[in-house]
Order: sequence, then C-alpha cells, then structure tokens
Amino acid sequence: IDDLLADGVSGKRVFVRADLNVPLDGTTITDDGRIRAVAPTIARLAEAGARVIVASHLGRPKGAPDPAFSLAPAAERLGDVLGRPVAFAADTVGDAAKSVTAALADGEVAVLENLRFNPGETSKDDAERGAFADELAALADVYVGDGFGAVHRKHASVFDLPARLPHAAGDLIATEVGVLKKLTEDVARPYAVVLGGAKVSDKLGVIDNLLGKADRILIGGGMAYTFLKAQGHEVGISLLQEDQVPVVQEYLKRAEAQGVEFVLPVDVLVAPEFPDLKTKAPANPTTVAADAIPADQEGLDIGPETRKLYAEKLADAATVFWNGPMGVFEHPDYAEGTRAVARALVDSPAFSVVGGGDSAAAVRTLGFDENAFGHISTGGGASLEYLEGKTLPGLAALED
Ligand code: 3PG
Repeated sequence: IDDLLADGVSGKRVFVRADLNVPLDGTTITDDGRIRAVAPTIARLAEAGARVIVASHLGRPKGAPDPAFSLAPAAERLGDVLGRPVAFAADTVGDAAKSVTAALADGEVAVLENLRFNPGETSKDDAERGAFADELAALADVYVGDGFGAVHRKHASVFDLPARLPHAAGDLIATEVGVLKKLTEDVARPYAVVLGGAKVSDKLGVIDNLLGKADRILIGGGMAYTFLKAQGHEVGISLLQEDQVPVVQEYLKRAEAQGVEFVLPVDVLVAPEFPDLKTKAPANPTTVAADAIPADQEGLDIGPETRKLYAEKLADAATVFWNGPMGVFEHPDYAEGTRAVARALVDSPAFSVVGGGDSAAAVRTLGFDENAFGHISTGGGASLEYLEGKTLPGLAALED
C-alpha cells in the first residue's frame, strides 16, 4: 500500500477487501476489533483522495440476501471509528452498489452489502467465482487486500479479484504476516502454544506442524476431552471427537519422541448440563480431577489447579501463541480458565500472540487491555493455517 500511495490514488476507485465479520447480538456489534484493525488502511486511502469501496463477508449466509447477515451495522460502526461519513450500498454488484460507488467523491468511503449474499463469492467452481469477480472488478480501479481473517479462503473477492486489478496488501495484512513470521522463523525460545476451543479436528494441522517447532503445547477447551480420552480417561458427557482419538494418541507419542511437552488439564469444572448463555443463570459447577469426570457430567472449563499449572508453564516462555478459549468463557462460571491464560500472558515478558476470533473477543470482553499483548490477530483460521505452513490464497494472490 505504501507503493500504491506513493504512486497516488487520488480520484481512483480503490476496492478494499476487509474482514468485517464481527460478532453480532441482533444488530448490536459485541466486539468491533476487526473494524478498528482495518480502519487505518481505509483512512490512509481516503486521506489520499481515493474513492474507497469497502467489501467483506459476514457470517455464513447461504448465497442469497439474508437480513440477519447484513453488513449495515458494521458500516455504521466503521463510520464512527473513521470519524467520517460512510455510505452503504444495499447490494454488492447490483444497482445500489453501482450508484453508491459512482456517486463517491474523492476521499469518500462506501461499504457494500455482504459479499456472501452472492453464490459466486464462495463457489468451488472457478468460472462462477470468476464471473462474480468480473462484476466486482467493474466497480473499481485498484484492489487492496486487507481482510486478513479471510485470506485462507479461496473466494472470489479474496483470490480471483486481485488477479483482475492492480493490487496491493494493506497495513493490517502486512502487520499480521510480519507477526506470524516471528512465530515461524527464528522463534525466541521457550516457545509455548496454548490451544483451546471446541474441536480438535480444527487444530490437527497446526499441532502436526508445531510438533517440530514448539517446546510445549498446553491444551484446554472442548478439545481437551479428546486428549484426556486418548490418555485412557473417561470424560462423561463432555465434548468428544471419538474418531480423532487415534490421531491424538499418535501426536502424544510423536511429542514424546521429539521432546515436545504436551500439558493437559489436571482438573476441570463440570456440570450436568451446558450453561444458559442468554440468562447466564448460575451454573453451580463442581471441580473434579481430570481423570475422574463422572459419567453424567460435562467438562466446561479448566479447574483451579490447571490454571496454576498453565500460568507456571507460561511464566518462563519467550514466545507464546494462543488460539481458542479454555472453557465456555461467555458464562461467568466458566470464564476463569480463559482469564487465567490471558492474565499469564499479560504478566509474562514473552512475546504473545493471541489468534482467533473467540480468544481475541474473550480477551476484550474479559476486560484485558489489548495493548498488554504482543499482538492480537484478527485471523482465527487464517493464522492457524499460516502456522500450518499452508499457502493462503489471499496472500498468494497479492504476492503475484
Ligand atoms: C473468520 O471469522 O475466521 C473469518 O472471518 C472467516 O470466516 P469463515 O470461517 O466463515 O470463512
């Protein structure tokens, strides 16, 4: 983007592919981190006189307009963050988009409606994606990729559109890639990785890759129960991916052979049912040893001994990557595990990277200062796939 700005963008229609996929409660944005993260790129372009067209997906609508997934609230918030008016087009490539973008004066900004209201955006068919990318390309002169959270998706606006326009990477992508490089090249040791979240299957690639690189891997969240099962423990009615047990057993063996320490919960908070996240009614969990989860109980957070253990394991790390909450942090009775990991990172001198929408949102909703961490990534799947060593379509398209 520095080169692009040096060449001059005044009067040019610049398409910014952002990731404004923010969590919503109805039409209320519950965490605007992604909007704030991309705003500086948009502001720089607008200040340089570009006519900025911002596009993004939100959620996973089924390729047709669906008001529940409208980007209108995100457009409004972007206007507040930028401190300048932001127009909104009620479609993506239709009459509204054409007239709103054509009406932009130099330095003005418009947001298009959700890209995923069009089946071409996410299509697996190259021609269908290409046809949609052609329509998007007709709206703009230049493309800036800055939706880091979506660069792992081979979607029309991420992968096909940059091939059709002069293109550049925005500041957010540059920052995110710079940080992730620090975790893959010459990483400062000890290097600890904390992985949580619901599904172990989402993390297999990254674990596979980290086994040769990390010094210790701490496991929490729903995925911990598949690890406990792989160690031969019963997990009651906890989240379990039975089919992944042999894979995890293989990882545990490999880790031992490679001198990588896997750290698993020693105690957990359990209850007979999942808490009510709407009413947040008291859940009254009990603490049990991780190898003694009763048959009719579900593990919903790491326990106090585990919190202490994980804090110790993070205290002397020089680099930490954290993805995925330790428990159902949205309910106050199950937030302490996630809070303890966040606190350990804040207290440690390690360079800490928090990746993933859920962990980033957890850090903010639990009241931590974002600046106390080395970096809070706007990418969940994207940062994981980067660490897996995969080629990310949205980055490859910009390097070309
Ligand atoms: C994310 O939230 O990780 C990104 O916005 C990508 O969304 P997706 O997983 O629906 O493609």
